[in-house]
Amino acid sequence: MIFNQFFDNASSTFTYLISSGKGREALIIDPVIEKTDEYLKLLNKLDLKLVKVVDTHIHADHISGLNELAKQTGCAKIMGEQSASEVIDIRVKDNEKIKIENIELISIYTPGHTDCSYSFFMKDRVFTGDTLLINGTGRTDFQNGNSYDSYDSIFKKILKLPEKTLVYPAHDYNGKTYSTIENEKNNNPRLKVKSADEYAEIMKNLKLSNPKMMDFFVPANKKGLTIKDLDFQK
Ligand code: FE2
Repeated sequence: MIFNQFFDNASSTFTYLISSGKGREALIIDPVIEKTDEYLKLLNKLDLKLVKVVDTHIHADHISGLNELAKQTGCAKIMGEQSASEVIDIRVKDNEKIKIENIELISIYTPGHTDCSYSFFMKDRVFTGDTLLINGTGRTDFQNGNSYDSYDSIFKKILKLPEKTLVYPAHDYNGKTYSTIENEKNNNPRLKVKSADEYAEIMKNLKLSNPKMMDFFVPANKKGLTIKDLDFQK
């Protein structure tokens, strides 16, 4: 299997490329528009055909590369059915399969960070978007976020996966690249709570400032901007 993790410094975003092998089909999760050339170069080098691109949710801190990649490769754009994106080709529900050749991702509806957040489980790993981060959890104070939903998504769905499951989030701000369910259960300070109320109290008191450019990025991601649209706006 080919598995490649990209990192965007500007937004601390992880993007994942998955394929069963050289010369085969590929899928990308959570691309960043400014990195499009980097993804295309690797696809080209490995002779991969990008067939699917998936966003875990509507991002507020960067513009997704989903639409640009689809424009350049003809791949299908996938998000959860709750997504407000206007450019999605395939909308998945909870517990659906996304397949490329012999690789299967299972969608898990994990609202809380946003109301359209999904995680994707693949054999020994889970892509958690901003639902579960390494030593943290995604904020719940905008985009119809809800800390009680976040609690349920994490405790009743993500943490029920096998303990050895690798955790690959959409962001990390501290130099970590992956974790495991076991590690998060044991060490994530946000998860050391006894109830949903206690978790909600922590989330209520985070008092984070909004991402810069959020008011531009969220509508841009709903409309599915391309690089040409961005050049036009400059
Ligand atoms: Fe997010």
